[in-house]
Amino acid sequence: MESIKNKVAFVTGGSRGIGQAIVRKLATAGVNVAFTYNNSADVANKLVEELSGPETQVIAVKADNGDADSIVSAINKAHQTFGKLDILVNNAGIGTMATLPDITLADFDRIIAVNVKGVFVAIQAGAAVMNDGGRIINIGSTVADRNAFPGTALYGMSKAAVAALTRGISRDLGPRGITVNTVQPGPIDTDMNPADSQFADLLRSAMALGHYGSTNDIAELVAFLASPSAKFITGASIDIDGGLSS
Ligand SMILES: NC(=O)c1ccc[n+]([C@@H]2O[C@H](COP(=O)([O-])OP(=O)(O)OC[C@H]3O[C@@H](n4cnc5c(N)ncnc54)[C@H](OP(=O)(O)O)[C@@H]3O)[C@@H](O)[C@H]2O)c1
Repeated sequence: MESIKNKVAFVTGGSRGIGQAIVRKLATAGVNVAFTYNNSADVANKLVEELSGPETQVIAVKADNGDADSIVSAINKAHQTFGKLDILVNNAGIGTMATLPDITLADFDRIIAVNVKGVFVAIQAGAAVMNDGGRIINIGSTVADRNAFPGTALYGMSKAAVAALTRGISRDLGPRGITVNTVQPGPIDTDMNPADSQFADLLRSAMALGHYGSTNDIAELVAFLASPSAKFITGASIDIDGGLSS
């Protein structure tokens, strides 16, 4: 993989889980990183302390992904701090588990605001300041294409929208050499989908590899897509799911 050293990245939802692994991976590869968090200020500040060094700067900005203004101002702050933007990772996301009679319109609006509108806003504001040849990587889900059990309709809808945005925006940004891709994880052991939850055995039984992935598995793929080596991949939705979709 070609080097991403000295690039600048903006990562949403970098305080915990997959986002935290992405921030770690990029920072240890020599990327200056700005990341957002919503509730986990303490964890975010510890991560900044741990990863900031003489060669790599990491900053955390509080920004609710469901609030367009706060995302735009976080991206502008990152751009002002580092003077450029090369890589945008839309990772922040929420899940809901409810079957049809129990889905509320408040759940519907919130998941669209955080998982879809927030992604669009970050792409629009990020692309406006991004260098030509930049990278946009959205974290979707295999649930965009297949629902393993009831209760995932809203979440799957939101991730299918991310995949569709990715395809469309790859066409808009292709002339600038900016690639836009979605990484679609399967079961990854995080607070959102713990490997010891009541659904975990069901998920494992449906996977070719039979076990959950780690947050670092996703971070490795994100780092590759962010690198010059991935310059011909765009508009793609890439499953990384231990064979859940196979
Ligand atoms: N884990 C899986 O199996 C799996 C599978 C497929 C896709 N995904 C996707 O991967 C992404 C990360 O999931 P995860 O499993 O790492 O989740 P997680 O453990 O719940 O962590 C979520 C992260 O996103 C942040 N976040 C949540 N809501 C936010 C908001 N409104 N504004 C800003 N940040 C927000 C959280 O920050 P705070 O704590 O600061 O609020 C946290 O850093 C999500 O898009 C998820 O849909 C996960």
